Amino acid sequence: MPHPITFAQAGLQVPDDPIIPFIQGDGIGPEVWAATRQVVDAALWTIYRGRRTIHWSEVLAGQRAYDETGSWLPDETLTSLTAHLIAIKGPLTTPVAGGIRSLNVQLRRELDLYANVRPVRWFPGLPSPLRQPELVSAVIFRENTEDVYAGYEVAADSEEARLLRGLLKATCGWELTDDTGIGLKPISRTASTRLVRAAMRYAVDRKRQRVTLVHKGNIMKYTEGAFRDWGYQVVRDEFADHAVLFDDCDGDPGDRILVQDRIADAMFQDILLSPERHQVIATTNLNGDYLSDALAAQIGGIGVSPGANLNDELGRALYEAVHGTAPDIVGRDLANPTAMLFSAEMLLRRIGWTDAADHIETAVEATIAAGAVTADLAARVDGARPIGTREFTDTVLTHIG
Ligand code: NAI
Repeated sequence: MPHPITFAQAGLQVPDDPIIPFIQGDGIGPEVWAATRQVVDAALWTIYRGRRTIHWSEVLAGQRAYDETGSWLPDETLTSLTAHLIAIKGPLTTPVAGGIRSLNVQLRRELDLYANVRPVRWFPGLPSPLRQPELVSAVIFRENTEDVYAGYEVAADSEEARLLRGLLKATCGWELTDDTGIGLKPISRTASTRLVRAAMRYAVDRKRQRVTLVHKGNIMKYTEGAFRDWGYQVVRDEFADHAVLFDDCDGDPGDRILVQDRIADAMFQDILLSPERHQVIATTNLNGDYLSDALAAQIGGIGVSPGANLNDELGRALYEAVHGTAPDIVGRDLANPTAMLFSAEMLLRRIGWTDAADHIETAVEATIAAGAVTADLAARVDGARPIGTREFTDTVLTHIG
């Protein structure tokens, strides 16, 4: 009988046969998930010889859930994800306008997974527009519950917008024309503080030397600017032994972590010109969305970029690739499973199965370094012959042993 992972004050308690729920996802989800499951199971066997195994438990969300149950996100799925703490998912379709609200946003908000964590790191064989891509090695902590993800938006011609325009004129003196849609950008001390705390804990645990808070506080002082001020306060109050702000040390942190901030537009210049300056990045929701795709483009693109959604206080984590359902390549053996594979690798690290995580990382890196790449990468690597999802997976499995 497999056992659930539990969470206590001492942290996660992981049995040798944990139950881990998975959502295959829509579009290319089933293809990249099939590859990932095969590689993870093979790596576990190679490293642990049956002493440790994962009991994968499928839960439904997205199109398949709707077709089978009439609900896009069934209650049983949320119950299972909540109970089992650690899970992995494929991409889910979101209609651009109207229709259902983004299932990803719903999942993150329902489970209060407040930190979206996206590592970006170059290794040999990955195409890059940079001359020195080896300087890129950063982890982005993007706030996951507020800002545009709060979803507070009303259409220009709605009654709600009409009432809000009236209220805003009466209370703030703001003149908005009758054809103005309105969105709210909530940024709270609570959410900003816990996000920066999670980024700082990561920097301390992983012995990183630099943390950058990214914001647009020069224009939006009470939301983006407040994010920076509250973040700095957390560093001063809770991490003084380990970290120091740039202004508090004249840029010379000694052996402590140097914490600085960047205005979002300057940050986009920085990650191109001096990527080595940024190791851990903590930012608000929309900035983090743009920044993570831009950084991903520097190390091969979204096909190789993994992610996690975390709540450390509740011990919850939901792993997923950064990319979407890729409707243009579904079912054509073109999908790159690397992003999903690396997401699973992050999951294994989270549950402490580091040997297996290292093994998968080494196997994928060796595969790509040898020029065995899917079409998304091959198009940008000189002389590379693209291989399909299945051949790529088989090559990784050969390296797994
Ligand atoms: P997308 O990431 O699905 O595709 C963008 C481009 O990248 C496409 O040309 C696609 O073929 C390519 N691509 C993506 N992943 C790839 C992979 N693993 N291997 C090779 N090529 C890959 O983004 P798009 O087109 O904006 O969104 C499509 C759908 O996915 C939408 O419904 C969107 O809402 C959803 N989506 C879901 C996400 C999630 O579940 N976490 C994240 C992003 C988008």
